[in-house]
Amino acid sequence: MCGRPILVDDVTVRPDEPGWIAVCDLDRLKAETIVCVRVAGLDMLVIWNDGEVAACERACPHEQADLSLGHVAAGQLFCPRHAASFDLHDGCISSGWPSAPLRLYPVRVAGEQVWLDARTGQSRR
Ligand code: FES
Repeated sequence: MCGRPILVDDVTVRPDEPGWIAVCDLDRLKAETIVCVRVAGLDMLVIWNDGEVAACERACPHEQADLSLGHVAAGQLFCPRHAASFDLHDGCISSGWPSAPLRLYPVRVAGEQVWLDARTGQSRR
Protein backbone atom coordinates (compact mmCIF):
# COMPACT_ATOMS: atom_id res chain seq x y z
CA MET A 1 0.00 0.00 0.00
CA CYS A 2 1.32 3.41 -0.78
CA GLY A 3 1.10 6.34 1.56
CA ARG A 4 0.05 9.78 0.55
CA PRO A 5 0.30 10.24 -3.20
CA ILE A 6 3.07 12.32 -4.64
CA LEU A 7 1.34 15.39 -6.03
CA VAL A 8 2.78 16.39 -9.35
CA ASP A 9 0.85 19.51 -10.18
CA ASP A 10 3.97 21.67 -10.17
CA VAL A 11 5.38 19.60 -12.94
CA THR A 12 9.00 19.15 -13.84
CA VAL A 13 8.79 19.06 -17.60
CA ARG A 14 11.59 18.66 -20.11
CA PRO A 15 11.41 21.55 -22.58
CA ASP A 16 12.33 19.23 -25.46
CA GLU A 17 9.63 16.70 -24.49
CA PRO A 18 6.67 18.62 -23.08
CA GLY A 19 4.46 15.64 -22.18
CA TRP A 20 6.97 13.89 -19.93
CA ILE A 21 6.78 14.59 -16.20
CA ALA A 22 9.15 13.52 -13.40
CA VAL A 23 7.00 11.69 -10.84
CA CYS A 24 9.26 9.95 -8.29
CA ASP A 25 12.76 8.86 -7.37
CA LEU A 26 13.84 5.47 -8.66
CA ASP A 27 15.24 4.52 -5.23
CA ARG A 28 11.89 5.18 -3.59
CA LEU A 29 10.09 3.10 -6.20
CA LYS A 30 12.50 0.17 -5.72
CA ALA A 31 11.96 0.35 -1.96
CA GLU A 32 8.14 0.62 -2.05
CA THR A 33 7.27 -1.34 -5.27
CA ILE A 34 4.02 0.66 -5.73
CA VAL A 35 4.03 4.47 -5.48
CA CYS A 36 0.87 6.57 -5.78
CA VAL A 37 1.09 9.76 -7.80
CA ARG A 38 -1.48 12.36 -8.79
CA VAL A 39 -0.71 14.16 -12.01
CA ALA A 40 -3.01 17.02 -12.96
CA GLY A 41 -5.88 15.47 -11.00
CA LEU A 42 -5.38 11.91 -12.29
CA ASP A 43 -4.61 9.19 -9.71
CA MET A 44 -2.00 6.77 -10.99
CA LEU A 45 0.41 4.14 -9.77
CA VAL A 46 4.07 3.79 -10.63
CA ILE A 47 5.17 0.18 -10.21
CA TRP A 48 8.51 -1.60 -9.89
CA ASN A 49 8.13 -4.90 -11.73
CA ASP A 50 11.14 -7.24 -11.73
CA GLY A 51 13.56 -4.56 -12.90
CA GLU A 52 11.07 -2.77 -15.14
CA VAL A 53 8.91 0.27 -14.44
CA ALA A 54 5.21 0.52 -15.30
CA ALA A 55 2.56 3.19 -14.76
CA CYS A 56 -1.21 2.71 -14.69
CA GLU A 57 -4.47 4.11 -13.43
CA ARG A 58 -5.07 3.62 -9.69
CA ALA A 59 -8.72 2.50 -9.82
CA CYS A 60 -9.38 -1.05 -10.96
CA PRO A 61 -11.38 -1.02 -14.21
CA HIS A 62 -13.55 -3.88 -12.91
CA GLU A 63 -15.19 -2.29 -9.85
CA GLN A 64 -12.85 0.58 -9.00
CA ALA A 65 -10.96 -1.03 -6.10
CA ASP A 66 -7.81 0.81 -5.05
CA LEU A 67 -5.05 -1.05 -6.86
CA SER A 68 -2.42 0.50 -4.60
CA LEU A 69 -3.63 -2.04 -2.01
CA GLY A 70 -2.83 -4.91 -4.35
CA HIS A 71 0.48 -6.57 -5.04
CA VAL A 72 2.83 -7.24 -7.93
CA ALA A 73 4.19 -10.63 -8.94
CA ALA A 74 5.64 -11.97 -12.20
CA GLY A 75 4.60 -8.98 -14.29
CA GLN A 76 1.04 -8.94 -12.97
CA LEU A 77 -0.73 -6.39 -10.75
CA PHE A 78 -3.22 -8.21 -8.51
CA CYS A 79 -6.39 -6.41 -7.47
CA PRO A 80 -7.07 -6.56 -3.72
CA ARG A 81 -10.85 -7.01 -4.10
CA HIS A 82 -11.36 -9.98 -6.39
CA ALA A 83 -7.76 -11.12 -6.94
CA ALA A 84 -8.00 -10.75 -10.71
CA SER A 85 -4.69 -9.62 -12.18
CA PHE A 86 -3.59 -7.23 -14.91
CA ASP A 87 -0.65 -7.73 -17.24
CA LEU A 88 1.67 -4.77 -16.77
CA HIS A 89 2.77 -4.88 -20.43
CA ASP A 90 -0.63 -4.66 -22.13
CA GLY A 91 -3.15 -4.06 -19.33
CA CYS A 92 -5.17 -7.22 -20.06
CA ILE A 93 -7.11 -8.71 -17.16
CA SER A 94 -6.74 -12.38 -16.23
CA SER A 95 -9.15 -14.70 -18.00
CA GLY A 96 -12.72 -15.04 -16.84
CA TRP A 97 -13.22 -11.45 -15.72
CA PRO A 98 -15.63 -9.15 -17.54
CA SER A 99 -13.59 -6.00 -17.48
CA ALA A 100 -11.90 -3.49 -19.69
CA PRO A 101 -8.11 -3.65 -19.60
CA LEU A 102 -6.11 -1.54 -17.20
CA ARG A 103 -5.07 1.83 -18.61
CA LEU A 104 -1.27 2.03 -18.87
CA TYR A 105 0.88 5.11 -19.34
CA PRO A 106 4.22 5.47 -21.09
CA VAL A 107 6.99 5.51 -18.50
CA ARG A 108 10.79 5.54 -18.46
CA VAL A 109 13.75 6.10 -16.21
CA ALA A 110 16.23 8.92 -16.81
CA GLY A 111 18.98 9.34 -14.27
CA GLU A 112 17.48 8.65 -10.86
CA GLN A 113 13.99 9.85 -11.79
CA VAL A 114 10.94 8.04 -13.12
CA TRP A 115 9.15 9.98 -15.85
CA LEU A 116 5.71 9.39 -17.31
CA ASP A 117 3.53 10.82 -20.03
CA ALA A 118 0.01 11.21 -18.63
CA ARG A 119 -1.39 12.48 -21.93
CA THR A 120 -1.35 9.16 -23.73
CA GLY A 121 -2.62 6.36 -21.50
CA GLN A 122 -3.27 3.21 -23.54
CA SER A 123 -6.27 1.03 -23.14
CA ARG A 124 -8.42 -1.01 -25.45
CA ARG A 125 -11.62 0.38 -23.94
S1 FES B 1 -12.48 -4.68 -8.38
FE1 FES B 1 -10.58 -5.27 -9.19
S2 FES B 1 -10.92 -7.24 -10.01
FE2 FES B 1 -12.83 -6.63 -9.19
